[in-house]
Amino acid sequence: MKTFFIAALATALLTGTALADTIKVGVIGPFSGPFALQGKNFQAGIQAYQALNGDSVGDHKVEIVYRDVPQADPAQSAALAQELVVKEGVQYLAGFYFTPDAMAAAPLLEQANVPMVIFNAATSAIVTKSPYVVRTSFTTWQTSAPMAKVAKAKGIEKVITVVSDYGPGVDAETAFKTTFEGEGGTVVETIRMPLSTNDFSPIMQRVKDSGAQAVFAFLPSGPTTLGFVKSYNENGLKDAGVTLLAPGDLTQESDLPALGDSALGLLTTFHYAVSHDSPENKAFVEAAGKAIGNPAELSFPAVGAFDGMHVIYKMIEATGGKQDAKAAVDAVKGLAWTSPRGPVEIDPETRHITQNIYLREVEKTADGTYINKEIQTFEKQGDPGLAAAK
Ligand code: PHB
Repeated sequence: MKTFFIAALATALLTGTALADTIKVGVIGPFSGPFALQGKNFQAGIQAYQALNGDSVGDHKVEIVYRDVPQADPAQSAALAQELVVKEGVQYLAGFYFTPDAMAAAPLLEQANVPMVIFNAATSAIVTKSPYVVRTSFTTWQTSAPMAKVAKAKGIEKVITVVSDYGPGVDAETAFKTTFEGEGGTVVETIRMPLSTNDFSPIMQRVKDSGAQAVFAFLPSGPTTLGFVKSYNENGLKDAGVTLLAPGDLTQESDLPALGDSALGLLTTFHYAVSHDSPENKAFVEAAGKAIGNPAELSFPAVGAFDGMHVIYKMIEATGGKQDAKAAVDAVKGLAWTSPRGPVEIDPETRHITQNIYLREVEKTADGTYINKEIQTFEKQGDPGLAAAK
């Protein structure tokens, strides 16, 4: 397998030279199935970036080649990443909604001389799997730790945590528990549920029985986050005064119309809100809204993709289009710019994005739109999870 890969790669690199005026970027994401809307947001972010910045860098036309991995599936992700490098001759790999998919492709990068720009996958440890990984999304450590501070400041003392039992869920649980206990609070119970869980009633019962004042929860955004928040309302936890605290994955804007007034007042911490008030975000929302067709479908994976394209364009510029993963990655270490989410920088040490994390509250605007209104800012947050990941 490995020998075949090297031989095929050599052929691909030779072919690649002949096509030097087109640079291919292979994007892996969920483009069909239950998480298709998240993949559609990757596409909207990419298209918005190219609409605002052109589809070329110098003489090099940037072509996107999409591959569909509908659900977390590391074997399929690794196979498609290899196919993109060997057969398609892509110079960059990007996308990756789910952590296991990014983890599985990362070991190919050094041998293939290809950087990976992660548009979403949020487990801290991914960047340690290869020196060629750069991330423009967030980590669940980064988005969850501020929520522990918010909880304590609101006078909450006892919390139960509920997370999906895989990388970003375990990180979210650790981040919340470590930070909340550091502030003097108590986590009374931690529940990890299989990624495939879609009946949350038994969990809601355990939350009620725990006597906690609040439940901190993380699940990957998609149909299950919508189901989880609905179940929290329908099982009477909200009425019983048990506060729901979560990173913003649980209140992505595309889910808010389906949650309706029951979502009002929900507090989440996150790196991006579609309603973020800045000229950069206004331009982004207009372009990405056009690209996605229905602006109500816009959500955070679009901004991860938009900024990911910015990083890839800078890499192409710095390498003059030559395939040199080390030079490409080195060129974006310390890169700073104003994203639609606010000021950001690629941390030169971790290759992860430093950014503001905002506390938001679900509100209804005068025209009946539900938004995550930013009400507090935790400035320039790096990833506190890497020390824990080592
Ligand atoms: C992940 O698998 O890393 C992931 C997916 C969806 C999210 C957050 C993290 O909303």
